[in-house]
Amino acid sequence: MKKILMAHDGSKSSEKALKKALQVAETFGSSLTVLSVIPELYLTELMALDRARILDTMTKETRGMMEKIKAKSKHLKSLKTVIRQGDPADEILKTAEKIKADVIITGSHGRHGAQRFLLGSVSSKIVDHAECDVLVVKK
Ligand SMILES: Nc1ncnc2c1ncn2[C@@H]1O[C@H](COP(=O)(O)OP(=O)(O)OP(=O)(O)O)[C@@H](O)[C@H]1O
Ligand SMILES: [Mg+2]
Repeated sequence: MKKILMAHDGSKSSEKALKKALQVAETFGSSLTVLSVIPELYLTELMALDRARILDTMTKETRGMMEKIKAKSKHLKSLKTVIRQGDPADEILKTAEKIKADVIITGSHGRHGAQRFLLGSVSSKIVDHAECDVLVVKK
């Protein structure tokens, strides 16, 4: 368990998954990368200005969240925070391959999903397509 990739969307469930990732990283002396993906906004050309504003707000929020994560992970050997834009599951999978992660840690649910489903669509796609192991932290 040298390299852990943790996917954070700002939800309660991913906050719980982050706690687990910190515990695992500490126990195994692993390096931890925390990734948050800002989803594509499917809006029309006419709304370009709104789109830019929304993106700006989301980026600021995500940066703030990452700063908080860094502050509470100072004791870790190695912590990186990464922000990307695109399809969350695709970006998480791509990053896992790029950094050669041994495990991806996600929450079972996120910000949007219907709680009656066993897994959200992002965690479910990661479990289906990841080449490495996946630790799904239950909410
Ligand atoms: N944009 C994202 N960036 C990083 N990680 C994410 C992102 N979205 C989801 N995740 C990860 O996947 C986990 C499950 O979230 P998911 O989005 O699958 O569930 P949901 O929001 O409840 O449902 P859905 O998005 O399918 O409506 C989160 O706890 C988080 O670990
Ligand atoms: Mg979601």
